[in-house]
Amino acid sequence: MAGPGFELIGAEEIAEVLDVLRGGWVYRYGAEDNPNFKAKVWSFEKAMAEYVGVKHAVAVNSGSTALWIALLALGIGPGDQVIVPGFTFIASISAIVYAQAVPVLAEIDRTFNLDPADVERKITPRTKAIMAVHLMGNPARMEELKTIAERHGLLLLEDCAQAFGASYKGRAVGSIGHIGAFSFNYAKVITAGEGGLITTDDDALYQRCFALHDQGHAPLRKGREVGARPFLGLDFRMTELQGAVLLAQFRKLAEIRARLYAHKQIFRSIIKGLPGLEFRELTDAEGEAATVLTVIFPNAEIAQGVARELNGKLLVESGWHVYSNMEPLLEKRVPVERGYPFHHPDAEFEAIEYAKGMLPQTDELVARAFNIGIGMTDKALATYGVTVRSTGQEVEACAKEFRRVAAKYLQ
Ligand SMILES: Cc1ncc(COP(=O)(O)O)c(C=O)c1O
Repeated sequence: MAGPGFELIGAEEIAEVLDVLRGGWVYRYGAEDNPNFKAKVWSFEKAMAEYVGVKHAVAVNSGSTALWIALLALGIGPGDQVIVPGFTFIASISAIVYAQAVPVLAEIDRTFNLDPADVERKITPRTKAIMAVHLMGNPARMEELKTIAERHGLLLLEDCAQAFGASYKGRAVGSIGHIGAFSFNYAKVITAGEGGLITTDDDALYQRCFALHDQGHAPLRKGREVGARPFLGLDFRMTELQGAVLLAQFRKLAEIRARLYAHKQIFRSIIKGLPGLEFRELTDAEGEAATVLTVIFPNAEIAQGVARELNGKLLVESGWHVYSNMEPLLEKRVPVERGYPFHHPDAEFEAIEYAKGMLPQTDELVARAFNIGIGMTDKALATYGVTVRSTGQEVEACAKEFRRVAAKYLQ
């Protein structure tokens, strides 16, 4: 029921948390000369900036918050449109709505991420940004998306929630666009139960993100700095307990990746060659997060047969990830039915509609795609497969079972 980091919680996380609790200082700010203050969040931010290869990182309380703050820091607001894939976790879309901007849904391609050709078709004079989501551990086609963004003067935001540790052509995700957002919830590569992170190379964006997450304060304040705050912010700070767990989890990243890649290698080698069975296209086979192995069947009927027999679900059945299952979005339901982005008197905003069937290429792909969990299990995206703790023999047995069942349908 979780991601690889969750499965590996152990003595290292316990020791880190005890270190904080023994000092008794659970708040992210403290005096440098106070021996009880362990500066876990600060250390985690430093480690993340270095690992991702950017100047700055801001730790926050969730991935949704990270996305929302990133959008606001980029200056996105009423009247703006943000292009986002129609197959993504619902929070990618909700964050745009909560920034009061309009999500414009685009098709995915065989990477199960944004199709650059459709992104280009969806650009209007109101488009302000592209949100590239690296879904299911696979980096989006960043080269093409960056070229499009540059050609049209658009901002490029990376939703890296499902791809911590992944890289694209030698660069870590979260360092390619203007700004990146990560999640550390229970299903992610590493976790503290909840948590998020924003990464950027841009000093001004960093200041804005920091202020947004901390009542308008400047980064790494020591005091309250009354009078020096750029704008009103709120509180989305991470606690020292989360920072402690994440430091321990981060040290396990290399081990997690090694295990997942070994599992994937076994699984692929056993199921490859089945007639008509294809794998999702990976933009960087050595850089992806390898949490799932996505297979594509020749048609929806075969896909359904196999999924049912394996007690698993197809991607189309995910209520959290497929636009056509997101009923609050289809019905534009927001808590306050007044104002941006859906209920403003300005008719131009009302023109956007979301409806089942509006992304036929996406619908067709998710209807015949199935995820084999390689290092994660999840009610929505990985309903069948192995975990990071599975042994080589267990992975082999699972792959053989998959092959036996799939072979019956793929004649
Ligand atoms: C692609 C994507 N974006 C954003 C989020 C939001 O992260 P969180 O659950 O930490 O708010 C998630 C979480 O599942 C996600 O998968």
